[in-house]
Amino acid sequence: MRLRRKADAARAVLLAAALGALLYWQWEPPAAPASPRAPAAPASARAPASASAPVASARAPAASARAFPGAGPAPAAYDADTPPPPTPPGPFDFRRYLRDKDRRRFPLLIDQPHKCRGLAGGPGPDLLLAVKSAAAAWERREVVRKTWGAEGAVRGARVRRVFLLGLPGPGARAQAQEALLRAEARAYGDILLWGFRDTFFNLTLKELHFLAWAAASCPDARFVFQGDDDVFVHVENLLEFVAARDPARDLLAGDVILRARPIRARGSKYYIPEGVYGLGAYPAYAGGGGFVLSGATLRRLAAACAQVELFPIDDVFLGMCLQRLRLAPEAHQAFRTFGLAPPSAAPHMRTFDPCLFRELVLVHGLSAADVWLMWQLLHAAPGPACSRGRAAPGPFRWGA
Ligand SMILES: *[C@@H]1O[C@H](CO)[C@@H](O)[C@H](O)[C@H]1NC(C)=O
Repeated sequence: MRLRRKADAARAVLLAAALGALLYWQWEPPAAPASPRAPAAPASARAPASASAPVASARAPAASARAFPGAGPAPAAYDADTPPPPTPPGPFDFRRYLRDKDRRRFPLLIDQPHKCRGLAGGPGPDLLLAVKSAAAAWERREVVRKTWGAEGAVRGARVRRVFLLGLPGPGARAQAQEALLRAEARAYGDILLWGFRDTFFNLTLKELHFLAWAAASCPDARFVFQGDDDVFVHVENLLEFVAARDPARDLLAGDVILRARPIRARGSKYYIPEGVYGLGAYPAYAGGGGFVLSGATLRRLAAACAQVELFPIDDVFLGMCLQRLRLAPEAHQAFRTFGLAPPSAAPHMRTFDPCLFRELVLVHGLSAADVWLMWQLLHAAPGPACSRGRAAPGPFRWGA
């Protein structure tokens, strides 16, 4: 009896070890960087939560928990499903970048030519959602489609969606991933794929190509939201925000970063040599995690960016285009492109409060499950009972 129990225990241990080994063998680091951003040393204008924050610093523990399954405490269930936003593998090859910089036109391999056509009730959509994604991040796209990125009528506004992608690879899975994108394009009609490699430093190419595509294929969109696939967007709040605006006038609003200084430390992933950018501070720009622009600004930006030299950080690049137009991005508190900071007294606690999200337009740095859960919590009837902040749940209002 005792012996048998011992044998059972030994078998269990062996099984666990085999499972661990199998998991480790299967585990692969996240492939193409989706859209990490930690551009610069943010100046004083930034919220304290983001000061010196690389990409969504609150998510760091999740990253380390992935290092070896079975080692250390298991991560919370919703941390395990999607890779945290990856950071670029440094150091950056500037010589090569400068050499390739003038190559800025790549073919559109998967188009959605009818995305903005034939809509009932007006020439273009009221809101076009354009989400930067990478082939490997299928899970994120799936959740965005099912939650805040759903197409159709949202409070009477016509919403359309596209995902912006570059070529996956290299690697054995690149081919399968490209096949996946083609299947998604057939199934959902929301994939735009261009013929450049989908890397962190090619996000500027993605921006440039999207602006050109939108200006040509969706020129009548009243407003355009652009963001990453690891954000939660409160589309109703966003629509309420733009409802008061005129799409024929300039608007670009988001989490505005002022007077950010280029990072001059050679070791940094975000190192920008003086030869590439000589000035002491970047022009004002909106954090690339998510921002909204008017149709008028979309068309003007597409033309302006075509004249600006490529710059390896996409949101700074967009700031340079804005500067060319002498257009100041509009700051809004409700765009949290650096994520939400957990309370300092309880750093392990996740700021997962639907009452908080109710007041926001955008939160950056979430896993696919986080996004789905927040959507469920926000849309659960009869709605979250929020004790803090507003006394009684009422319609969302744009405060100061
Ligand atoms: C951008 O994409 C092009 C075309 O695929 C590739 O040659 C280049 O190396 C990429 N650049 C970076 C910085 O990843």
